[in-house]
Amino acid sequence: MINMLVTGGCGFIGSNFIEYMLKKYDDIKLTNIDNMQHHDTIYNHNYLKGRFKRYHHVFGSINDQLLIDKLVKNSDYIVHFAAETHVDASLIVPENFLDTNINGTLTILEAMRRMWSDRCSGERKFIYVSTDEVYGSLALDDDTKFTEESKLDPLNPYSISKLAAERMAYVYKKTYGLPIMITRCSNNYGIRQFSDKFIPKVILGCKHLTEIPIYGTGLNVRNWLHVKDHCRALDMILRSNFDQYDDSVFNIGSDLILDNNTLVDIIINLIRQRYDINGVTLTNLVRHIEDRPGHDLKYHLSYDRIKKVLGWSPMYIDFNVNMIEIINWYYTR
Ligand SMILES: NC(=O)c1ccc[n+]([C@@H]2O[C@H](COP(=O)([O-])OP(=O)(O)OC[C@H]3O[C@@H](n4cnc5c(N)ncnc54)[C@H](O)[C@@H]3O)[C@@H](O)[C@H]2O)c1
Repeated sequence: MINMLVTGGCGFIGSNFIEYMLKKYDDIKLTNIDNMQHHDTIYNHNYLKGRFKRYHHVFGSINDQLLIDKLVKNSDYIVHFAAETHVDASLIVPENFLDTNINGTLTILEAMRRMWSDRCSGERKFIYVSTDEVYGSLALDDDTKFTEESKLDPLNPYSISKLAAERMAYVYKKTYGLPIMITRCSNNYGIRQFSDKFIPKVILGCKHLTEIPIYGTGLNVRNWLHVKDHCRALDMILRSNFDQYDDSVFNIGSDLILDNNTLVDIIINLIRQRYDINGVTLTNLVRHIEDRPGHDLKYHLSYDRIKKVLGWSPMYIDFNVNMIEIINWYYTR
């Protein structure tokens, strides 16, 4: 049996990853540490608990060194998702982001340094799940893509905290020889995302006929990847031999870029075709609100390295089909 520790597994990507891994592998026992501060974590937690015998949840914080020491000691693989993730909140309470995202990650790295010193290579592995936001923003008319070598230029407290944590992971890899890889993924979409994130907000706005807020002009462009493709990529990296890599970072992206206005139009059209909306013109729910300060204009990731090295590329690429599934999930929940 492989003992896997997932942090933040009651969140959006973590809960999808746990489901993916436990469905695919019989020889994994999985522990999830999550402090469940967001109300939507309860649904994700109950969903996992009800389905998988080899799933165990620990209610606690990644900042609790004694608890993390114990969990790390007993783990072969660790995939670290736990983080404060809402960019808007990072502008209001940046200190929470520094504490959870940087100090919380440091807690895990310190535990690995002390608990894994006996056998670091081959059997134990750690993935730090970072973000494309560490590259900062492209100009809207810039057609280049961020590669793993691009300049790192985070522009909000969330992305700064993610970069600080991933660089700390890099230092622990170089200094202590810990088996660490870092992934930088583009925007994910899928089921079980928290209701205060952009896509769920649009769908739930249509469902409840409430306002659909779009920041500024809505021309900001994001690179969208289905969460299952993210899980596939993390799985492939985990199963690979970390010793073979000269580099410590993989971008995980897709070919799909959409501006926010187009994304909202697509969702509204799909909902209009499928659900009774009582004659309401859903586009009237859209409100362009004052832009977020320092709102990044455009992200677009190159995934050439992971494609070349591991043969990964996105599989779930029919956006409309995927989006219908997600809409149905939010409508029937
Ligand atoms: N969502 C995206 O599009 C995206 C893209 C790239 C990278 N990422 C990264 O992936 C990871 C997961 O993102 P997500 O969208 O699933 O986030 P999420 O907000 O849905 O989930 C984060 C989880 O971490 C938990 N958590 C927060 N602080 C904790 C603490 N101190 N101790 C234990 N658990 C704690 C939360 O309760 C939550 O369940 C994050 O590290 C994020 O930076 C997300």
